[in-house]
Parts: sequence; C-alpha cells; structure tokens
Amino acid sequence: MESALTPELARTYLDWLIELGADDAISDAPIDRYGLQDKVKPAPAVAVAAAPGVIPAKVPDEVDPVAVARAASQGAGDLAALKAALASYEHCELKRGARNLVFCDGRPGARVMVIGEAPGRDEDREGRPFVGRAGQLLDRMLGAIDLSRETSVYITNVLPWRPPQNRDPKPDEILMMQPFLARHIELAAPDILVIMGNISCQAVLGKRGITRLRGTWAEAFGKPVLPMVHPAYLLRTPAAKREAWADLLELKARLRS
Ligand code: URA
Repeated sequence: MESALTPELARTYLDWLIELGADDAISDAPIDRYGLQDKVKPAPAVAVAAAPGVIPAKVPDEVDPVAVARAASQGAGDLAALKAALASYEHCELKRGARNLVFCDGRPGARVMVIGEAPGRDEDREGRPFVGRAGQLLDRMLGAIDLSRETSVYITNVLPWRPPQNRDPKPDEILMMQPFLARHIELAAPDILVIMGNISCQAVLGKRGITRLRGTWAEAFGKPVLPMVHPAYLLRTPAAKREAWADLLELKARLRS
C-alpha cells in the first residue's frame, strides 16, 4: 500500500536529505565530473630496462598509512602537537572532502573521555565534535548525571574528518586513525572511556555489536570502558533511552566509587 506524501512526510524526507549533506557545497567552484572522465587518462606504462651489469634500484615500498600514523602520533608530546600531527597527516581520503579537522571539545584532563564516531555536517562546519542534534542530546544526557563538557568531560571522535554523505567509515580509515586515537587517550589521560556506537566499539574494543555490548564494562588502553548506544540512535529510537539511562547511572556510580 502506498502512503500519501503529506507535508510532514515531505519535511521528514527533506530533513533526511539535508542530514546527508545534499545542500553542502564540497568546493568553491563547480566541477564537471562527466568532462573529467575524458581528461584523466592513465599515464602510459614505461618499460625501464636495466643496463647490462647494473643492479636496478629497489623500488620503494608503498607507504604504510598505519605506520606513518603511528610515527606521527608517537612524536606528539601534548594534545596541541597531536592535533598538528593529525592536521598534517595526508593518507586519509576523508580529509580532502572535509571542511575542518574535528579534534576535541571539553576539558582536557577530565575524568571522563567520550569517544564518538565521526563528525557530521554541523561538526564539520564548526570544527568541534557533537554540536549537532546528537550532540545536544549528549549534553542533556551528561547533564542528567551532573557532568558537562565545560567542567568534567573531554570529547573526541574515532575519525577527525566527516565522511562524505555521513557514510560509515571504511575499515582501513578506522585502522589508520587508531594510533592517533590511542595517543589521544594517553595524552588526555582520563580515568574512564565512554565509547558511543559501533564504530567506536570497533576502534577501541576491536568488535561491534553495540546492542549486546552496551552497559557492560570492558577494558582497553589500560582503562575501564563503558560502551553506550550513540545519541543519534537514541534520536531515532526513543525506546532505547531507558537503557541509556541505566548506562548513565552505571557511569555515575563508577565515578563515585
Ligand atoms: N556523531 C558522532 O559520533 N560524533 C560527532 O561529533 C557528531 C555526531
């Protein structure tokens, strides 16, 4: 049975398209992508024959983006240096489509570090994590247990750049950001990690299944970790708020103990 397109339904579709970034300009000037196809031709392969008796130079191995990320993040001695290392990291494609690097918000040194997934449209515009609708809900959730990003919580994401159209990050993108995340945790030195959503579970615990994992303490990077469902999921599924509330109380109790 077809449902009639009511103004409310049309508005919902429109909101959804905007959330996906349909009204975002990716660059300042338009690009004719149909025209590009003819212009970009693969360079002809050049056969290089070694002269007799000459040992051909070793072709350098392809760069390993994870190794580069590890070296860059280990070299960072504080949070500002880590942000600068991320800003000059050139191996993640997401960087090219993003407007801003989204590094952190909240209080460095706070006991609680919240790790979200990736910036959305609003975060990409502002360069701060969790400032859109999900972020506003996150603030209310934290407030309900007397925490706030101003005083007692430090916030970051697994990915510092917005994926195009808010698509899920690819496994290799998560992998190359992991060394930065590990160093970020080391430098922010929280007592407790709260990881929100499946991407964060994948990056921190190496597994997914947030509906099963949520509310059960785990350990990673030598710290207690509480997986919770993502606030964006709670916006779509208000019935899950009850479990999220139980998880917040669990967090509050742990902070008191
Ligand atoms: N969702 C996230 O996981 N992080 C943000 O910063 C915003 C939305």
